Amino acid sequence: MKDETINLVRCPNEVEGKLCLSPLERIDNELKCSKCGTNYIIVEGIPILRELLCRFCNKPIVEGSKKCPHCEKSLPYPGPEYLSIYYEAHYGPYLNYTSRDDRFIPRALTEDFYQTISNLCIPYLNENSIALDIGCAFGRLSMELAKKAAFVIGIDYLLPFVSEALRIVCSEDIRTIRIRDIGSIAENFFEASLKGFGINNCDFIVGDAHDLPFDRNTFDFVLSSNLIDRVENPQKTIYESWRVLKKGGVMLITDPLNWGEIEKHPSNVDQWKCNLLDFFDRKKWKTLSEIDGIPLIFRHYSRHKSTLYNQAVIVEKIE
Ligand SMILES: C[S@@+](CC[C@H](N)C(=O)[O-])C[C@H]1O[C@@H](n2cnc3c(N)ncnc32)[C@H](O)[C@@H]1O
Ligand SMILES: [Zn+2]
Ligand SMILES: [Zn+2]
Repeated sequence: MKDETINLVRCPNEVEGKLCLSPLERIDNELKCSKCGTNYIIVEGIPILRELLCRFCNKPIVEGSKKCPHCEKSLPYPGPEYLSIYYEAHYGPYLNYTSRDDRFIPRALTEDFYQTISNLCIPYLNENSIALDIGCAFGRLSMELAKKAAFVIGIDYLLPFVSEALRIVCSEDIRTIRIRDIGSIAENFFEASLKGFGINNCDFIVGDAHDLPFDRNTFDFVLSSNLIDRVENPQKTIYESWRVLKKGGVMLITDPLNWGEIEKHPSNVDQWKCNLLDFFDRKKWKTLSEIDGIPLIFRHYSRHKSTLYNQAVIVEKIE
């Protein structure tokens, strides 16, 4: 965990309906809040800045647990299949396959999407910018922001993702990874190697988009890519992005508005819109740019691909 990160993060514990937001002090392998007394563990160099509750019994659980110790139900945990989707989606062009079936549609179908989004962000960054990538997964876009910004934090609520992001973006290790040929009936894996990018002005933390562990007016730029249609409360995550942005700061949000979690959070159906700009309060934000129909092509099964069309909007915090 980098010093810049320790300086930027704040206590996300809710006290009487408000986030504590007190600075945190590192003591051994924990970050401690002297105001509300909450301690946050650091796992493999990654601070876990969200409280994890079992979605079945609402009791506290440990990050990464496969089973709840209280009610013993299995917890959703991304398996190798899910992880391998992100190796390909985020780093397809950088993978060196050591074994691959010829029929397998090569990876990197998503590359044009990441290039397009990076190119839209770059003009809003400079050598002093502090940027945040919310829902960063394996950190591809955090890495792209770090090429121009002073410092970038990628945040995601899943430790297995953040841990991959940190290793790939910040180390220079060469690792062998397994890519699953999704859709094959047999467990069919290919091997590939991936070299880390060794970027040192980027760091990753575990946290929740609904309770961002940062003070208000912290960031110059916030990115939210393919996140908003998956969160429980889209409005709250937009409010949180506004809160942590500096006045005059810019947010790029892009999404297919696919509402992938519709079954998980049916009560929120009235909040789900079909135009990203509908989420933004015109008193708080000014629209700088709006782009529609950005293709996001990915491989579904070994021989099938499909395309989503994303909207992207760039907005400035004006209040
Ligand atoms: C579809 S992926 C998008 C990843 C990346 N931004 C991209 O565009 O390739 C959505 C990511 O958001 C994360 N996520 C979902 N809900 C979240 C929340 N409430 N707080 C933080 N991250 C969240 C997921 O773990 C996942 O990594
Ligand atoms: Zn606190
Ligand atoms: Zn439980």
